[in-house]
Amino acid sequence: MVEKKTVIVTGGNGFIGTNMVRLLINSKAYRVVNLDALTYAANALSLADLEGSQDYVFVKGNITDSELVSSLFDQYQPAGIFHLAAESHVDRSIVSPEDFMQTNVVGTYRLLEAARAYYVTLAEEKKQEFRFLHVSTDEVFGSLGADGYFTEETPYAPNSPYAASKAASDHFVRAYHHTYGLPTIITNCSNNYGPYQFPEKMIPLMILNALSGKPLPVYGDGSNVRDWIYVEDHCKAVKLAFEKGTVGGEYAIGANNEQKNVNLVNKICSILDDIAPPIEVPQLRERGLKSYTELIQFVTDRPGHDRRYAIDSARITRELGWQAEVGFEAGLRQTVDWYLSNPKWVDQASGGSYSEWIEKNYAWRADAQRESK
Ligand code: NAD
Ligand code: TYD
Repeated sequence: MVEKKTVIVTGGNGFIGTNMVRLLINSKAYRVVNLDALTYAANALSLADLEGSQDYVFVKGNITDSELVSSLFDQYQPAGIFHLAAESHVDRSIVSPEDFMQTNVVGTYRLLEAARAYYVTLAEEKKQEFRFLHVSTDEVFGSLGADGYFTEETPYAPNSPYAASKAASDHFVRAYHHTYGLPTIITNCSNNYGPYQFPEKMIPLMILNALSGKPLPVYGDGSNVRDWIYVEDHCKAVKLAFEKGTVGGEYAIGANNEQKNVNLVNKICSILDDIAPPIEVPQLRERGLKSYTELIQFVTDRPGHDRRYAIDSARITRELGWQAEVGFEAGLRQTVDWYLSNPKWVDQASGGSYSEWIEKNYAWRADAQRESK
């Protein structure tokens, strides 16, 4: 039997982190040390079933805490790190860029420093094996016009504070490879969807708003385009990049699935109309809705809203043989099902704090919310 590798995953209680930790543990090839600060975006229920497993250790802590991070490297002697912890919501970055600076930039820098100090202590064989896998986004490349695709060669042109903070972290990762020889790999992926996504993001927000009869707020004219990938397909690509990727390299990851926002919201409504028609939902029965599409409202646009994202993932397909496996119609239906089947998780994640947060912090979004009532 092959000996399991111990790896650190940061941000394991978040959306992609949860799916990543599960993939690694289910592969039977890894033991995972999950370092997560449990911010608003985390959900303790997401990995509750792994508690007590020999292959899983949870450490509550902040990636900016150098002492803690170094102690984890010393204690667990990991074969690598999957760095996913981040502030991840563009809308929040418009209101509070400071948190993005701290976690995404300073946090990544502190992890790199700790990894560098640990790496130089390793025997040659362990050095060969060690990887710092940095999970990033296609948003670092800015906005596309009607044509073209992002690739690994696309120049960086971040537009939101979120994208700028991720771009800065990518640059630090790259520099630590170039300058210190740290074996890094960067992945830049498009918009993910699937189970465990915090319901401030577009897809779960629309599903849950619809089910409670709230407006479905589509920003601007709804024709902004995102390229959607099922979260497990993304995690498989990241695992493959960690195991077989070129050291110092980057991989653009996407599933060739561009959708206009308004079309996507219509698709979500049509799935819901099919599996949970408004007439069968007790709190909606009185409203006489025939379709959830009646809840769609066009609201004030996000400032600086990128028009279109689209990924050409030819490199990871050619070099590592990766391909997305989950079709969009099936993946979206599975996702809607998941949110319908996990009310406890949803309750814990929703908790009312998001709309309070909007009212308190976010002038343009609060206007949008009022308009859409
Ligand atoms: P998320 O917001 O759902 O989860 C982030 C996790 O990181 C949470 O569990 C949170 O508690 C933790 N965290 C935040 N700050 C921390 C800190 N200072 N110290 C320790 N833990 C901290 O995010 P996500 O959507 O799962 O994204 C994960 C990563 O993937 C991010 O780096 C993001 O930039 C990247 N990414 C996301 C997408 C997407 O569509 N969601 C696409 C491409 C890349
Ligand atoms: P989001 O899930 O926030 O991801 P990102 O901004 O990182 O792409 O948003 C996806 C798209 O949906 C984006 O174009 C903004 C739009 N959007 C809405 O139209 N309404 C909403 O309520 C939200 C949250 C997003």
